Amino acid sequence: MVALMENNDSGIILPSEDLAIRVKDHQLHHEAMMALPTFYRNLEEALNVRRAGQNLYSVVTSTIHTWGAIDFCSGDVLSLGTSGAQRAEFLAELARNPNFTPGSGGARLMDGNYSYLEQTERIIAQFHGAETALVLGSGYEANGAIWTAIPRPGDVILYDEMVHASTHEGMKNSLAIRHLPFLHNNVEAFRNTLAEVLDSQPLIKQGKRSVIVAVEAIYSMEGDICPLKEFFDAAKEVFVNGESVQFVVDEAHSVGIIGPNGAGLVCELELQKEVAIVMHSFGKAMAAGGAAVVCNSTARAALVNFAKSFIYTTAPGLPFVAAIRSAYKLVADKPAQEARERVQNLARRFYQEVASHPLWPIAERKGFLNLPQMDGWEERSIYTHIIMIHTRDKYTWWLYYQLLSASCCAYPVHHPVVPIGRSQIRAILHSSNTEEHIERLTDTIFRWVEEVMDIEEGRVAQKVPVAARTVYEWMEKEGLNGFGLVRD
Ligand SMILES: Cc1ncc(COP(=O)(O)O)c(C=O)c1O
Repeated sequence: MVALMENNDSGIILPSEDLAIRVKDHQLHHEAMMALPTFYRNLEEALNVRRAGQNLYSVVTSTIHTWGAIDFCSGDVLSLGTSGAQRAEFLAELARNPNFTPGSGGARLMDGNYSYLEQTERIIAQFHGAETALVLGSGYEANGAIWTAIPRPGDVILYDEMVHASTHEGMKNSLAIRHLPFLHNNVEAFRNTLAEVLDSQPLIKQGKRSVIVAVEAIYSMEGDICPLKEFFDAAKEVFVNGESVQFVVDEAHSVGIIGPNGAGLVCELELQKEVAIVMHSFGKAMAAGGAAVVCNSTARAALVNFAKSFIYTTAPGLPFVAAIRSAYKLVADKPAQEARERVQNLARRFYQEVASHPLWPIAERKGFLNLPQMDGWEERSIYTHIIMIHTRDKYTWWLYYQLLSASCCAYPVHHPVVPIGRSQIRAILHSSNTEEHIERLTDTIFRWVEEVMDIEEGRVAQKVPVAARTVYEWMEKEGLNGFGLVRD
């Protein structure tokens, strides 16, 4: 058994407050709805569809804040936020620029532009080896800007089937003639889809229109890395005129974490000159907010002229930009480098712990556990901080309860975030996690595997593991349903 941490010795008493709110929010609304005006009844009906599908969102405070649970869920991967490093640097940055107004006073194209913002964009562009950068309010807005502004009529978009919702939303508003998905991270599928486009689109074949490819450096729900170099090589094989295929890379989950000084995958692979557009968002490892699109001056001018999420919005104020600027300073410093190495070591340690656990082979064979990134873990040169844990779909909630009861806050992910039938637990590693945390995580997972194996194989009388039973007893008392409820 691992040495438990000070605040977490007793684990979380289930249901934790956030879980209790979620379960209650999910109960169907019936009688009370009848008395509502049509306007609200229609909204409640739409929400009932979500409730019935177990995928209603509730805004709750995470157990990492309310119970001091171990953080396997936040995006603060380098712990620049929780360590206070970002706050200290941000306050120093504000002190260096004391005469700011908190707001910008207008849109960038009117009177909301200012030199501090422009300087920051130059710093960002230089950091990523690009000609220019354009700051936007969030990664979501930045992807919207890219996909509405960049594709021209007659262009074709090829996208990895697992790209983020913001890319889908942006593509819906794009002028491209077709949007074609290809199998996730699959170079062969990419090559075949590209060849199909070459055959079916004469203007593209003649070099008069482009294929624009949407990929992510690290995928948020798979935790794997894009084989970007291989995609490039495939594009060159299919298209003699390589320039007809241009890439847009979303580095939301890689900026700060991989590449030289955390500059991202494109810089790691030295593809800065080849990739047309890169999106870096700052709400995760950079411990700030907002995003930047880095590209050349032609693409930037297209964004400035055609992207509504840039044109019709107030420019960010100096404090918002100062947080981005301080993140860029911190991320290149030695402590951030050490934090990146730590995350790599913790990830390796996790896979080592799993691989050496006596129950792993049987848990995998019998489908109690499936960790897609275990394949070839020993040979991998870069690990990501995102660990996806699959079990049988019906067990995802049970595993989540078990982790929570051991004070491990890792989120269950369900449809519509992932396709139906692909529910999973996502555990994110942080530089502030310790080796004991990793042991606690793996210990808890395998204790749970042992429990469900005993249940499935009839070695025990009960039908539900201990942590889930605690939740379900409370639900029964409260007259609640859902969340994998099975009565013992
Ligand atoms: C891959 C990806 N792109 C873009 C975004 C949106 O970024 P932001 O949170 O800055 O809006 C996210 C957010 O989670 C993401 O995972």
